[in-house]
Amino acid sequence: MRVGVLTGGGDCPGLNAVIRAVVRKGIKDYGYEFVGFRDGWRGPLEGDTMPLDISAVRGILPRGGTILGSSRTNLMKIDGGVERVKDNLAGLGVDALVAIGGEDTLGVARQLFDRDVKVVGVPKTIDNDLNATDYTFGFDTAVNIATEAIDRLHTTAESHHRALIVEVMGRHAGWIALHSGMAAGANVILIPERPFDIGEVVAHVESRFKTNYAPIIVVAEGAHPKDGQMELSTGEKDSFGHVRLGGIGQRLAEEIESRTGKEARSVVLGHVQRGGTPSAFDRVLATRLGSNAIAAVNDKEFGKMVALQGTEIVRVDLAEATETLKTVPTERYEEAEVFFG
Ligand code: F6P
Repeated sequence: MRVGVLTGGGDCPGLNAVIRAVVRKGIKDYGYEFVGFRDGWRGPLEGDTMPLDISAVRGILPRGGTILGSSRTNLMKIDGGVERVKDNLAGLGVDALVAIGGEDTLGVARQLFDRDVKVVGVPKTIDNDLNATDYTFGFDTAVNIATEAIDRLHTTAESHHRALIVEVMGRHAGWIALHSGMAAGANVILIPERPFDIGEVVAHVESRFKTNYAPIIVVAEGAHPKDGQMELSTGEKDSFGHVRLGGIGQRLAEEIESRTGKEARSVVLGHVQRGGTPSAFDRVLATRLGSNAIAAVNDKEFGKMVALQGTEIVRVDLAEATETLKTVPTERYEEAEVFFG
């Protein structure tokens, strides 16, 4: 059996750990051969491959990024894209695919499966917003990076009696903001699922200044106020139609400064959250998901995504995994809200 492997969408710490597990177990336990496809769906679309054997995956377990490269190529938007992929897979003698990605990459995997491509998905995203899995790898690392940054910002904010607004990633789901904000004791946490009231945010900031403690506001990039007036975007869209976000932290800083008369600064963590070495938790999760994905290929369980449920790795339908996004439930936000102000 010859198996193709690809990584699509935004990169994420732990991708290399998945690739390593798929290849090591696939060769050792099943005697498979592997083909690496470069840059997500662009690889099978253009037949762009790289060798993927034991020597190619040596030493990559702790490395961030992906040795295969990634892209947001949406082959469903390319005329004849599916047929080209199928022809290339046949030409290369690739019998099955392991696609490692988030909602977009796995959404394409699901549509390919509906068109008779043998594919198994592995959930990846620092956003933790994929349905049917309790956690995605990369999320723990991103939360640790954001938490460390917020801890550091606390001390400098205190010294200068400033409000600091920390903008973290999370377009539609506020998981990174929620977890890093809780872990680092944020003054307020703002997430896309809960449009915020700027008056309440300012009140929290003022109450913290009164206790001589500098306010830290953690805001997800997709958060917006109730009236929708402060959301910013560049207007640009990627091939999956997502607007490029950024700027809510800066807008909040301006608003807080003008309403409180106190200095407010914003810090955008951006891609720092996605780079570098994965946490131990993510390395273990990524390894388990990779091992189970190649086991699913061996069991001919195609059209599935491997997922973490509780402490077990299970197989769910790609359709179930990609139908809706897993957003922060109200009760989870309310747990954090107790500590605002
Ligand atoms: O999906 C992962 C993610 O990091 C999101 O949190 C973020 O909105 C997006 O990717 C940014 O994408 P890009 O690196 O393509 O700008």
